[in-house]
Amino acid sequence: MEITSLILNNNTEPADKKSFNKNSNDKRVYIETYGCQMNYSDTEIVLSVLSDFGYNETSDINNTDVILLNTCSIREHAEHKVYKRLDDLKKYKKSNPNLIIGILGCMAERLRDDLLSKRKIVDVIVGPDEYRKVPHLIDNVIETGEKGIAVKLSRVETYDDITPLRREGVTAWISIMRGCDKFCTFCVVPFTRGRERSRSLINIVEESVRLYEEGVRDIWLLGQNVNSYKFGDNDFADLLRQVALAVPGMRVRYTTSHPYDLSMKLLETMAEHNNICNYIHLPLQSGSDRVLKSMNRLYSVEQYLNVMKKSREMMPDVGLSTDIISCFPGETEDDHKMTMDVIREVRYDGAYTFVYSPRENTKAIYMKDDIDEDTKTRRLDEIITLQRKISVEINSELVGKTKKVLIESLSRKSDEFYMARTDCNKSVIIPAQTGHVNDSGELIMKKTYKIGDLLNVKISKANSATLFGEAV
Ligand code: SAH
Ligand code: SF4
Ligand code: F3S
Repeated sequence: MEITSLILNNNTEPADKKSFNKNSNDKRVYIETYGCQMNYSDTEIVLSVLSDFGYNETSDINNTDVILLNTCSIREHAEHKVYKRLDDLKKYKKSNPNLIIGILGCMAERLRDDLLSKRKIVDVIVGPDEYRKVPHLIDNVIETGEKGIAVKLSRVETYDDITPLRREGVTAWISIMRGCDKFCTFCVVPFTRGRERSRSLINIVEESVRLYEEGVRDIWLLGQNVNSYKFGDNDFADLLRQVALAVPGMRVRYTTSHPYDLSMKLLETMAEHNNICNYIHLPLQSGSDRVLKSMNRLYSVEQYLNVMKKSREMMPDVGLSTDIISCFPGETEDDHKMTMDVIREVRYDGAYTFVYSPRENTKAIYMKDDIDEDTKTRRLDEIITLQRKISVEINSELVGKTKKVLIESLSRKSDEFYMARTDCNKSVIIPAQTGHVNDSGELIMKKTYKIGDLLNVKISKANSATLFGEAV
């Protein structure tokens, strides 16, 4: 493993050591996570590393020894959010000068110099491949008052031996690989996360079994491009198959796929195993071959549509979603219309849509970006409106139908409802209790199901993002 770290001096006074005992077992860490699921999964790895050094997670930002922000660089807006948050954090540092503030994740990798020189409240900066060092860097700040930075990217680090400290629940993420070698011309990920590397197949299978024994019923296998998973002679379809066979009572899902690497073998594996969810998130990015070429996406619209067609043939009820970047440099009105055409043709269940955001280091930043702001707003609006209309149509067709769902959690809006999910990844809100009126006319409420239950639900209502229903 390549590891180097650099401790930089700053001019602040050493922190008061007495108020923060590095050997104590009740140090508190508060952590906020931004960005993709891989970052959320990384947060669980960081919490695990820290717990070996006596840190417990707290949700109380006013009473903590360390605040960590696990950050995202994917678009300018994501970075702005973190910079704004850092401004908010000044008040906590003011009221507790011993408080340690750290930046983890993709921004740490990308903006280390800027963060060190301009953001005086930041004490530690740690990139995605150096999380084993987080406790030592914090300790060093406590002992010497020196800022710590560790941002070296590794070709081998996968944290394969670390058991993530997961929050309780029936859903769990398992990172199966790290990094990305695709170098899409708009994307910062290959620079913030480094080269692709995969975890051991057997360890992932064993982790899935352990999670099942602990009560997890739904796992997501994660990677920026899971389809290029490779361990020895095994590819992603082999891994998925092994996991599905090892935990037949577990729902198994994955994200994200790259259309170039999605194999027929993978679709066959999905179709073959009942517990592999019939859901594919396959980023299209653009419906124009010319734009796809300039994005270095390595597939044509025709090839992409062929994968969609095959997946529907093999799994008729498959849930399909996508990512779209509108207004990539040089996108013409015709290119935009072609993207709209693909959306109409595929009829996705849902889509994540973004206006292109120029990122440093990427090739696209050197391409002429001459689309005016009004056009950017209009094109994105057109895509969102079209997709929303399609989602409503697809979801409305489900009203009156019965679907099998897994109850994942209480609904975010009310404790009186559960959030459950269908096999093809649609969320369904169902009442947490059912009731009946007895002979004396009293309403008797009784809880009949709990988080982790699989049950059949009749859909009664739908909007573009959510279904509503009741257990049958
Ligand atoms: N690894 C995944 C996606 C990772 S980023 C994949 O290849 O599909 C998630 C999404 O963010 C991308 O699919 C893309 O739609 C969007 N995205 C990435 N870079 C962007 C940029 N510079 N501007 C706007 N959107 C971007
Ligand atoms: Fe970025 Fe492309 Fe890699 Fe996805 S496949 S993370 S969009 S470079
Ligand atoms: Fe963001 Fe890094 Fe994920 S840039 S999307 S947190 S890989």
